[in-house]
Amino acid sequence: MNILVTGGAGYIGSVVVEECLRGGHQTIVYDNLVKGHRESVAAEAGFVEGNLLDGDLLKKVFRESEIEAVINMAAYSLVGESIENPAKYYHNNVVAGLSLLDAMRECEIKKIVFSSTAAVYGEPEKQPVEENDRLAPTNPYGETKLAFENALRWYETAYGLHYASLRYFNAAGASEKCGEMHEPETHLIPLVLQAAVGNRSHVEIYGEDYPTRDGTCVRDYIHVIDLARAHVLALSILDEKSAIYNLGCGGAGYTVREVIDAASEVTGLEIPVLVADRRAGDPAVLIASSNKIKTELGWNPEFQDLRVIVESAWKWMRNHLKNEQAKSETSIGQ
Ligand SMILES: NC(=O)c1ccc[n+]([C@@H]2O[C@H](COP(=O)([O-])OP(=O)(O)OC[C@H]3O[C@@H](n4cnc5c(N)ncnc54)[C@H](O)[C@@H]3O)[C@@H](O)[C@H]2O)c1
Repeated sequence: MNILVTGGAGYIGSVVVEECLRGGHQTIVYDNLVKGHRESVAAEAGFVEGNLLDGDLLKKVFRESEIEAVINMAAYSLVGESIENPAKYYHNNVVAGLSLLDAMRECEIKKIVFSSTAAVYGEPEKQPVEENDRLAPTNPYGETKLAFENALRWYETAYGLHYASLRYFNAAGASEKCGEMHEPETHLIPLVLQAAVGNRSHVEIYGEDYPTRDGTCVRDYIHVIDLARAHVLALSILDEKSAIYNLGCGGAGYTVREVIDAASEVTGLEIPVLVADRRAGDPAVLIASSNKIKTELGWNPEFQDLRVIVESAWKWMRNHLKNEQAKSETSIGQ
């Protein structure tokens, strides 16, 4: 298929692009680089620098490249920022998202895979979370993702659009070439690795008195390659139907302390830790069931082991730091 990946220069998007190419799809990235990195886009993919709000540019790309399906990963995704500045999130994740859907509608493109989030569940009533559980986002980020999911549902009814909404928690790890480079970084594994190499003074653990196996919160981490493969797999249902799938590690999850210990073992470095108070609204356990996508689509995650996830992130980070250093030495030498 000819596929457009919006947000394909971002962390997860760049790995989704690698997997689309591996699956034999012609792949074009559409990204305004507000957060993404041009160098993360695989050389074999096309690239268009543009904003989802630019419907005319989207329609031009759709027509010229005969796009058949869209994977929409372009969004803002910082929970704290969304609480401080909801307008920014509604504008980018909903208004810009609708601009994409309308451009698709005008060009009669009827297939979309959407990066949703576990934040649509808010604080779940039971664990692991399943797709039919209560939807009750507790922040504007989750609300905007749910608003887009709801739009997809109504666009299906009225215009025959088929969608796959993938709800996930924490993407983690790296492929050979692409890894996590958010600014600011809020995700645990890169934060821990940055503390290991001394790029930050310490990692904070928020609360050590939860009713979990070591007192720290249990969270769900999924390897970014497994996640990317699920996006490509989800394209296969879109001729026939729409669906919503959770993507999670499926097992017992990992505690914050287990992540830090794994990083310490993998790097061989000491990781300074500061134990702080619990944060309001942090549930003890947050994990997703992936049974539905496993049963219906045969999704079979290969890299679920925490150590494998951390090793891949560490390998990528060391290469990235080396490349950055080489670049700065070259520019000093010039
Ligand atoms: N990282 C996670 O753990 C996680 C978990 C659940 C859901 N998600 C969702 O997955 C998607 C990708 O996450 P990520 O961590 O790779 O984020 P990211 O910030 O690395 O990537 C997002 C990309 O979208 C682009 N973008 C944003 N707004 C745009 C616009 N209006 N027009 C064009 N491009 C735009 C950015 O430049 C960036 O390249 C997001 O939609 C996010 O909400 C991520």
